[in-house]
Amino acid sequence: MRQKLVVANWKMHGSSAFIRGFFAEFAPAGNVVICPPYPYLATVAAACAEKGLEAGAQNLNAEPQGAFTGEVSAAMLGDLGVRYVIVGHSERRSLYGESNTVVAEKYHAARAAGLVPILCVGETLEQRESGNTLQVIAEQLAAVSGEAESPWDNAVIAYEPVWAIGTGKTATPEQAQEVHAFIRQALGAEGQSIQVLYGGSVKGDNAAELFAQADIDGALVGGASLKPEEFAKICSAAV
Ligand code: G3H
Repeated sequence: MRQKLVVANWKMHGSSAFIRGFFAEFAPAGNVVICPPYPYLATVAAACAEKGLEAGAQNLNAEPQGAFTGEVSAAMLGDLGVRYVIVGHSERRSLYGESNTVVAEKYHAARAAGLVPILCVGETLEQRESGNTLQVIAEQLAAVSGEAESPWDNAVIAYEPVWAIGTGKTATPEQAQEVHAFIRQALGAEGQSIQVLYGGSVKGDNAAELFAQADIDGALVGGASLKPEEFAKICSAAV
């Protein structure tokens, strides 16, 4: 039986004052992960530990250490008490040129260090309209699974249609369910146990119908995760 999971991706938002206000107001329900920007990870990890939540990072470097100015390794995240890390978010892919190969390296580095990668996959509007959604997703998954043994153990997948991110245009529950079911089938035996989250304009008032779908195990939430009351509503819908 898969548990529901709700992950907040604060992206490049927040401040010390915001974090104090957020945790003063946020009443958690269920399994929740908060992914703040790097400078706030230690503070957020401590606040999460107090409230029974988990902290996550938004990115990592696949190298274990070295002369990589501005980068952060998986071991450093683990050292801070961080359990999850987002890998291959579409903003990383499109704005910072992360290819499927780079994403796969990060994914495996995270798992090797004992972190749980949250692998983001999803199609652009152009890819959807040209009928290539499932092929794009299959390629993104195949790049990660490669020749690895049990590649989907201790991992989470987030299906995020690029056209739904930050646009207010959510995939319909049926559109999301179709892709989630495809992802499970593409993963073979491990596909039944892995948590597959949906991301893209999830709000307090559309979360419940998304979570009611058979293969949707929760959400990766951007904008709405910055509003404690609304985010709490999404988390409650997952319980
Ligand atoms: O990581 C989160 C996703 O990019 C979704 O963002 O909820 O603002 O659409 P959004």
